[in-house]
Amino acid sequence: MYSCKMKKYIIGFLPLSIKWLLRFCLRGPSLLRDFCYDAKRYIKWSSVISFEKDREKILAVITATYHNIEKGMSLPNPRPLFGRVVIGQLVGSVDNFHLNFGPDPQLDVPINVLARYCQFNRSLGQPDSQLEVIVDRLKKNNQSTLLRINDGGVILRSKAEVLDAISGVKEDFFLMRHSVRQFTKDPIEHSVIEKAVRIAQKSPAVCNRQSGKVRAILNPELIRSTLQIQGGARGFYEEVQALFCITVDLSNFNGAERYQGWIDGGMFAMSFIYGLHLQGLGSCALNWSKTRKQDIEMRNHLRIPENELIIMFVAAGYLRESFVVPQSYRKPLGEVLSYI
Ligand SMILES: Cc1cc2nc3c(=O)[nH]c(=O)nc-3n(C[C@H](O)[C@H](O)[C@H](O)COP(=O)(O)O)c2cc1C
Repeated sequence: MYSCKMKKYIIGFLPLSIKWLLRFCLRGPSLLRDFCYDAKRYIKWSSVISFEKDREKILAVITATYHNIEKGMSLPNPRPLFGRVVIGQLVGSVDNFHLNFGPDPQLDVPINVLARYCQFNRSLGQPDSQLEVIVDRLKKNNQSTLLRINDGGVILRSKAEVLDAISGVKEDFFLMRHSVRQFTKDPIEHSVIEKAVRIAQKSPAVCNRQSGKVRAILNPELIRSTLQIQGGARGFYEEVQALFCITVDLSNFNGAERYQGWIDGGMFAMSFIYGLHLQGLGSCALNWSKTRKQDIEMRNHLRIPENELIIMFVAAGYLRESFVVPQSYRKPLGEVLSYI
């Protein structure tokens, strides 16, 4: 006790630069270890080094590639026969997938996109007969599973449609979302969870590579033990009726996209929270910025595979008739928004 007070007293007299150096020596190495832990996972499980033999990784490459074609067709004035290199890559990737894994429903959309691209060129008077033959071959190869005839390509939307869809939504929808830490005991139906996940799936994602995943935990004992490891829900464990673990699959990312998991995963989680909010549930995001040791503990606890990155947890339940929430004051707009 005495030596502790003494230590604090001495530290109080140290110059700031020495304090910073001491802190660096104290906290730097473990922080560096945690960075290395994340980096190792990214290098091993993303598509940076190898993707040719991994189903999920090839599918991610295929999604990114076919989405480039969809994007091309949605530009204001797309050129006929645009993106020849990308088309070649997509055909090569689909063939490679067939070779390694055979027909798969996941290939329906990329093949449909190629078919739509052929229609697009034909409609502009520049048919690509060679590609049309290739697309027929790809369709035949994937025949046994080709069910989703209309998925993939572009759709025409009107301003009226969009305005109609959002006409009932006011700023209050957003202002009335709070982090809630007290709920009723009503169980949450699977249909409610599934709707929130569908809404989360509509989040923008890099090249439409949909890396987000949700694990719904409804068992009270598992909720409690998971929250004990998470550590940020002390005082409201018993309130939580459902706990969701949001992860992303790293096989969707490559190159410099080392932070993309947290970005796409964060957006996915936000939409999921709004999906719950839309249905009258309260929720509270729960932090998963943890050390290597804590991350390993949680992975073992929930059996989360190595290729997934835990983004955060979301605790949820139905709203009580009245409940207290922190004001959570927001900074003045001027500190957040600047015009440059
Ligand atoms: C990624 C993330 C992690 C969070 N972790 C926790 C947590 O562990 N425990 C908690 O009680 N609240 C947690 N929160 C909730 C924040 O405290 C809350 O969002 C913030 O104070 C703003 O309040 P509001 O959500 O009511 O607007 C977290 C929020 C985010 C976005």
